[in-house]
Amino acid sequence: MEIMDEYKLEAFREYFDRGEMRRFRELMMYYECAMLEVKTKLDVLNKELSLRKSRNPFESIKCRIKSPESILEKLTRRGIPFSVDNIEKELNDIAGIRVICSFPDDIYALVDYLIEQDDIRLVTMKDYIKNPKPNGYRSVHIIVEVPIFLTDRKKPMRVEVQFRTIAMDFWASLEHKLKYKKNIKKAEDISEQLFYCAELISQLDARMQQIRDKIELNEGQDFSDEGEK
Ligand code: GTP
Ligand code: MG
Repeated sequence: MEIMDEYKLEAFREYFDRGEMRRFRELMMYYECAMLEVKTKLDVLNKELSLRKSRNPFESIKCRIKSPESILEKLTRRGIPFSVDNIEKELNDIAGIRVICSFPDDIYALVDYLIEQDDIRLVTMKDYIKNPKPNGYRSVHIIVEVPIFLTDRKKPMRVEVQFRTIAMDFWASLEHKLKYKKNIKKAEDISEQLFYCAELISQLDARMQQIRDKIELNEGQDFSDEGEK
């Protein structure tokens, strides 16, 4: 995977000299390695748990490195001087992973298994399922620090992992799209309706989980899921 297209780096040329450009590319490479480390850990957990429980704890996993434009925008918005050191010091979401689970309790199980690992350090956890955002947004966000092993040293890097159910992801994707339609954003009843939809979705998640519990109870662990690999 190409870490960053040349044309995207254009955004930085007016701020960075050649030396800083090189350090920036290096930093992005470290984030990519850290992201792969954490993704592998999640893939391993998924494989082990799938075999044990005959169903996948997560449906899909997506990785992304924050684009130079977004990095620039975020630092500027926060009034932080633009430098490679500040990017590393101030931003926690350069490397991002989104894990989409079937059921809410799979989220908590995965988070626990991940943060218990002895080379993972939990930096922060925001539980927007237990405490949804005022607009209704739900997800669990964790920032973890994971070491990457370079030729001459070990370097701890931060990665943001967002965990959502399929239903929460459905809501967040649509809400995100609508948010950028500025004329719609202002209408208060739209916000109310979105909030109401988020509540419905949360009830749906709980109901689906109850159905799953019933099936597992009736049939033991001996059922297989449609989406099973
Ligand atoms: P950022 O500056 O955006 O990183 O905010 P933060 O540092 O307060 O982090 P937070 O954990 O609250 O949210 C970070 C990410 O979660 C965002 O970049 C989005 O991907 C997602 N997110 C947070 N709130 C919302 C929301 O209301 N709607 C949607 N669709 N996504 C959200
Ligand atoms: Mg963010």
